Amino acid sequence: MAGAEARGRPKAGYRSVAALLLLFNCVIRCTECAKPSNIVLILTDDQDVVLGGMTPLKKAKALIGDAGVYFSNAYTVTPLCCPSRSSILTGKYPHNHEVRNNSLAGNCSSPAWQKGPEALAFPVYLSKQLYQTFYGGKYLNQYGKKEAGDVGHVPPGWDQWHALVGNSQYYNYTLSVNGKEEKHGDSYEKDYLTDLIVNKSLRFLDERSPQHPFFMMLSPPAPHSPWTAAPQYENSFVNMKAPRDGSFNKPGKDKHWLLRQPLNPMSNSSIDFLDNAFRRRWQTLLSVDDLVEKVVKKLEDLKELDNTYIFYTSDHGYHTGQFSLPIDKRQLYEFDIRVPLMVRGPGIKPNQTLQAPVLNIDLGPTFLDIAGVNLSEVNMDGQSFLPQMAPSLRNGTSRPYFLVEYTGEGHSAPDPACPKLGPGLSQCFPNCVCEDAFNNTYACVRTLTGYNMQYCEFADSESFVEVYNLTSDPHQLENIVKKGGQDLDPLLRLLSTLSGSEGCIDRLLLNVNQNPL
Ligand SMILES: *[C@@H]1O[C@H](CO)[C@@H](O)[C@H](O)[C@H]1NC(C)=O
Ligand SMILES: *[C@@H]1O[C@H](CO)[C@@H](O)[C@H](O)[C@H]1NC(C)=O
Ligand SMILES: *[C@@H]1O[C@H](CO)[C@@H](O)[C@H](O)[C@H]1NC(C)=O
Ligand SMILES: *[C@@H]1O[C@H](CO)[C@@H](O)[C@H](O)[C@H]1NC(C)=O
Ligand SMILES: *[C@@H]1O[C@H](CO)[C@@H](O)[C@H](O)[C@H]1NC(C)=O
Ligand SMILES: *[C@@H]1O[C@H](CO)[C@@H](O)[C@H](O)[C@H]1NC(C)=O
Ligand SMILES: *[C@@H]1O[C@H](CO)[C@@H](O)[C@H](O)[C@H]1NC(C)=O
Ligand SMILES: *[C@@H]1O[C@H](CO)[C@@H](O)[C@H](O)[C@H]1NC(C)=O
Ligand SMILES: *[C@@H]1O[C@H](CO)[C@@H](O)[C@H](O)[C@H]1NC(C)=O
Ligand SMILES: *[C@@H]1O[C@H](CO)[C@@H](O)[C@H](O)[C@H]1NC(C)=O
Repeated sequence: MAGAEARGRPKAGYRSVAALLLLFNCVIRCTECAKPSNIVLILTDDQDVVLGGMTPLKKAKALIGDAGVYFSNAYTVTPLCCPSRSSILTGKYPHNHEVRNNSLAGNCSSPAWQKGPEALAFPVYLSKQLYQTFYGGKYLNQYGKKEAGDVGHVPPGWDQWHALVGNSQYYNYTLSVNGKEEKHGDSYEKDYLTDLIVNKSLRFLDERSPQHPFFMMLSPPAPHSPWTAAPQYENSFVNMKAPRDGSFNKPGKDKHWLLRQPLNPMSNSSIDFLDNAFRRRWQTLLSVDDLVEKVVKKLEDLKELDNTYIFYTSDHGYHTGQFSLPIDKRQLYEFDIRVPLMVRGPGIKPNQTLQAPVLNIDLGPTFLDIAGVNLSEVNMDGQSFLPQMAPSLRNGTSRPYFLVEYTGEGHSAPDPACPKLGPGLSQCFPNCVCEDAFNNTYACVRTLTGYNMQYCEFADSESFVEVYNLTSDPHQLENIVKKGGQDLDPLLRLLSTLSGSEGCIDRLLLNVNQNPL
């Protein structure tokens, strides 16, 4: 710890005393215990799994997934960057951390967030367990802005803090380096952000104290726009096109209001745009593949690889042409809410694919479980999935259902059409297809245990409902809400058992009870 303290965190004096006290406690408690395992989390930005987003990650798959587990049912509880990242950090659903969107007014890195949820995020607990902690890359979309405390705000729990100011960029960005501004230009050798995160993380590993475990969170900008590839990858995948199967270029005719707006079939310029985006997204991921290789090699050189859990995931999915929406996230469908998740580490047998549903809010509890924190003393909605990955270490059951929540961006709008960046519709992508609106606000219940279904309800003027049977209809082409019948009974029974304390779904349940399917 002393090593990490010396590297210049603010309030070092206070922290050293606290650390000494904790160290004293720990020496008393764990003279007989082995050192807890190290943990690395690699979190990409906007990387889908449904549309083949993991294909470019050949080395990462060999080094993490093949050496451990792939979770084939990993989900985000909300398909937008800032709310999802806030869920990862706090282990909570959005209705409990109250980060609604990517704006300061929606609590993204806001003063209320900093005072409340951020002070109880998982790194705080890891730090109390004497983990040496490192953050590198994109944090929350409003992080580092003047109104969000500027670069001087270093969230609690982090010993080494190298966080991007604002949203994902590859060049010409500013970092907060332990509270001090560090500006970067556009020289590949000096500034390419994905590579810079690797270099800084390797330095942290060299300089850490071997007495205590470490936690590293590496959060590259890829494959988020502006999709700037490293020079050596600018010509990769030149003939690649977005997949044309499933719901690609299909009309969303039985769906909620926003999905009934896009032009169908899509215009050629939309298709060209999304194919180009698709290619460039994959190109940026090749640098993430290099990142994984270098970090794993370093851990091997330091003889820490066998005592390190490595998690690889994304904040949410993405779409390129599904239901005629050119590019974005923010929808309740599988392409936007499913994420890649692979993990290797102690007690995890290689070559496994696990079907247990796992959520982004489970990452925090899983880290704390690995670190030896008593989870009943932590207030998180998620649960540890260590029992699923490493049954020799823990017993536990997976969850029967989970929620997906989203608050649409944009204010009340006078114009229902799609005004270019007009009020009400915050996104106006190629050919002005709307990708979001304030009434794209919904809550869903998703089950994978027993039956594979999704129920969603909108806070819009229609109280619109969508229901999918993912067994018969994996691409969600048919909204079966009007079909009714006893087939839906198990889902209705489940909905009626959900407790009213689950805030955001109160209204949803009320409506279900008043208007049975
Ligand atoms: C922001 O979070 C605070 C508590 O942390 C909450 O009181 C407030 O209502 C939230 N704002 C929104 C827009 O949800
Ligand atoms: C970075 O900023 C400089 C100066 O504004 C500009 O000339 C350059 O094109 C930018 N580079 C990138 C990759 O955006
Ligand atoms: C990262 O380190 C490598 C090896 O020292 C160097 O070649 C590369 O230019 C560095 N990249 C960045 C962005 O710092
Ligand atoms: C759009 O592309 C298709 C297939 O490439 C082509 O047949 C069609 O003529 C194009 N339409 C327009 C309006 O350019
Ligand atoms: C994983 O399974 C594949 C195919 O069954 C096999 O070729 C490979 O050696 C296995 N890898 C490990 C690490 O067990
Ligand atoms: C964990 O915390 C709970 C609640 O404080 C307590 O009842 C329980 O004994 C603790 N478990 C362990 C193993 O310390
Ligand atoms: C899991 O539960 C079984 C049966 O109750 C028990 O025999 C086993 O020791 C438990 N394993 C762990 C890791 O706690
Ligand atoms: C984010 O949420 C806040 C609080 O509801 C709202 O005032 C703001 O307009 C939202 N931002 C966007 C871009 O929709
Ligand atoms: C959603 O908002 C748009 C823009 O104000 C409006 O035209 C539309 O009728 C609304 N749809 C529903 C179902 O609330
Ligand atoms: C979902 O589809 C499967 C396969 O067609 C069918 O067996 C099952 O009964 C359906 N479930 C519901 C609730 O409709």
